Amino acid sequence: MQKQLEEIRRGALSAISSAGSGVDLEALRVKYLGKKGALTALLKQMGALSPQERPKMGQLANQVREDLSSAIARQAEILSQKALDARLASEVLDVTIPGTKVPVGHKHPMSIVLEEVEDIFAGMGFQIAEGPEVELSDYNFTKLNTPEGHPARDWQDTFYLSEDSSVVLRTQTSPVQVRVMERQKPPIRIISHGRVYRKDEVDATHSPMFHQIEGLVVDKGVTMADLKGTLEVLVRRLYGKDAKIRFRPHHFPFTEPSCEVDVQCFECQGEGCRVCKGEGWIELLGAGMVHPKVLEGCGIDTEVYSGFAFGIGVERLTMRRFSISDLRLIFENDVRFLTQF
Ligand code: PHE
Repeated sequence: MQKQLEEIRRGALSAISSAGSGVDLEALRVKYLGKKGALTALLKQMGALSPQERPKMGQLANQVREDLSSAIARQAEILSQKALDARLASEVLDVTIPGTKVPVGHKHPMSIVLEEVEDIFAGMGFQIAEGPEVELSDYNFTKLNTPEGHPARDWQDTFYLSEDSSVVLRTQTSPVQVRVMERQKPPIRIISHGRVYRKDEVDATHSPMFHQIEGLVVDKGVTMADLKGTLEVLVRRLYGKDAKIRFRPHHFPFTEPSCEVDVQCFECQGEGCRVCKGEGWIELLGAGMVHPKVLEGCGIDTEVYSGFAFGIGVERLTMRRFSISDLRLIFENDVRFLTQF
């Protein structure tokens, strides 16, 4: 019996040490140590031994069982270590490889200029107002002293959205003036920006959609001098403290008197050059004192209050600010262009 036990041990130990997987190992455990295993089968024959031999064989059998158990445990350990090594080898992570760069977006030149302008006016106590792009003709024209029959209302110039011409894509941000004055009592100090639409062909300086910034101040004793002072602050902040402006008489139906405001060419300081087309001055915006008819239409007492308004083309401002020569570049959104700002 001793011989048989030794044989089992030898055979089992060599099988265990060459087991290549957990499954093989479990099969060996069952084969040798299981209920129907080789060792158990042998132990069942113990009864046939003499009383002297029995304890010796019992001891040896226990020894063999322990040897096999611990060999299995050892082999299991070796196998799991091997598996770990294999994983570590296959899942190498080189932390020194440079990462993939995520491109970070940035502001559109129009947004940069717009935020600058908003910042300048916020510093002078202006609030920001909003109005609809799809507007009633009443607000876009009539309440701005532009009655039926006025050339600005022509179907050739304007995108109407209804057969009866009562709804329109706003042609200017000025209707926001009316909307603000209708719901707010003076003092009023607002700017409002947004898209406006006119039937223009696309070229280097025109687009059927563009942006304006509207300004409106209504208070007691507001004069043209306040308008001038306010616009001077704007221009100095945008173009430097030596920037000069001039007022030219003009006509808008909803302001009286009306003017256009030019800035002295920053390229040639008024000498005349390519940028200003030899003029020495560059047109910047339209402005004026709000027409009494418009104020009264909004229920504002013109004996007590007066106001000024102005409207700035944002594309024009942006093109000047960044020396952009073609308006279309602003809307094409080619990143090679946009990343320059
Ligand atoms: N709305 C005018 C335009 O689009 C500009 C303007 C605004 C003029 C406010 C005077 C006052 O041309």
